[in-house]
Amino acid sequence: MSERPKPQAWPGYRWPHLINLTDRLVREDRWPQTDRWLALQFREHKAFGRKDRRFYSDAIFRLCREAAALVWLQARFKDEVLDWQRDAVWARLQTIPPAELWSWLVLLDGADDQLPRELTDAAERRRCLDALSDDEQAQLNPLRQGWVPPLKARLERRIQTSDWSADTLHHWQQLQQRRPPLWLRLVPGHEREALESLTGNGLTPIEQDGLAVAIDGDSRLTDIDAWRNGWLDIQDRGSQRIVEAVNARPGERIWDLCAGAGGKALALASLVGPDGHILATDIRDHALDKTVQRAKRLGLPQLETRTLDATDPEQIHPLNGLDFDAILIDAPCTASGTWRRSPDARWRLDEDSLRAFTDLQDRLLAQATGALAPGGRLVYATCSWLVEENEDRVSAFLAQHSDFKLVSQRIVGAPEDDADTLFVAVMNRR
Ligand SMILES: C[S@@+](CC[C@H](N)C(=O)[O-])C[C@H]1O[C@@H](n2cnc3c(N)ncnc32)[C@H](O)[C@@H]1O
Repeated sequence: MSERPKPQAWPGYRWPHLINLTDRLVREDRWPQTDRWLALQFREHKAFGRKDRRFYSDAIFRLCREAAALVWLQARFKDEVLDWQRDAVWARLQTIPPAELWSWLVLLDGADDQLPRELTDAAERRRCLDALSDDEQAQLNPLRQGWVPPLKARLERRIQTSDWSADTLHHWQQLQQRRPPLWLRLVPGHEREALESLTGNGLTPIEQDGLAVAIDGDSRLTDIDAWRNGWLDIQDRGSQRIVEAVNARPGERIWDLCAGAGGKALALASLVGPDGHILATDIRDHALDKTVQRAKRLGLPQLETRTLDATDPEQIHPLNGLDFDAILIDAPCTASGTWRRSPDARWRLDEDSLRAFTDLQDRLLAQATGALAPGGRLVYATCSWLVEENEDRVSAFLAQHSDFKLVSQRIVGAPEDDADTLFVAVMNRR
């Protein structure tokens, strides 16, 4: 995804390719992970040059961002009733011919002279757009940013729960319109060398906050000394704040039970130091393989990995009584907090998948407690801003576990930082 990917000029000779590409997109069963899907398409169409690829990818990401508005405009034009609770945006989008989808965007840009030739009823569509009442325009504007009514209701809950002011909300929504910068985590003890290496290679930080450093783009990052020598790692600012909430101290023993490719486990390992121990487990062994590789690059022998289904009492049983100082549950979630980087994920969120995630989150929380030392910290985190996946899960857990008390819970990352929007709760075992 790039900055506000409104094509400067509409495609002209590229129209047939863009329509063809869109046709292939809407034939997918669900909205695919767009960057990967585009890479596949470009591999098949080697004739596309760099500028073509850039153009098509900006265009497809724009389609993704404005999908709900296009669905709404088409329904309005065809005099059809839309039920946002029942009608998935993706399913509706699939029923609209690609040339008509694009025409709405061209008309919204006021570029009527550049409409694709495939469109035959441009004048009627222009009249439909011009005839929108103030009320309808007020419905259209949030839809252009992907705020369909069920999501808007969820955002309302977030605003109330986090007590966001109008300014905070406005700032957060502005941030949602563009990709966050690339955040790096400097390894303690090597900050100066790492910064010199970045600057010397033209990757001058655009922001720095302690060990967190933001750069604009990652093109040469893995070629520089700081990377080769393990003086820094890639980690979103919000994720770094989750690590800060764990408050790991030298010599501690910590279990990261959803470690994935190890982003947080590695940061924790550098904080507990050589006298500490991090047990990084995950259900996916290939993700843990990456953790092992990354730990080697960063020189962190205090990190141990183990493949494990953390919802299975039999697999968890041997860990009970190990008395960890802290347990981190970085739970699988809808990833709603990463829509700045993956706007397509928004259209894969439905009630069934949300229920499956909240059920899994409850099971992970319930299983982990036996391995925590009395007085230990249980840290629950997600990369989602939905209250259902966060504060609601914490309340449900505390209602069942009177031996735990809540220390803190909050949204981290955006809007405070130019980053993903994440959540972290810290609970203490009495
Ligand atoms: C949000 S990701 C973790 C990201 C990671 N902590 C990081 O900082 O890079 C959630 C992880 O939970 C893992 N997971 C899902 N179900 C699980 C289960 N039943 N037991 C253990 N891990 C599970 C997934 O494989 C995924 O890697």
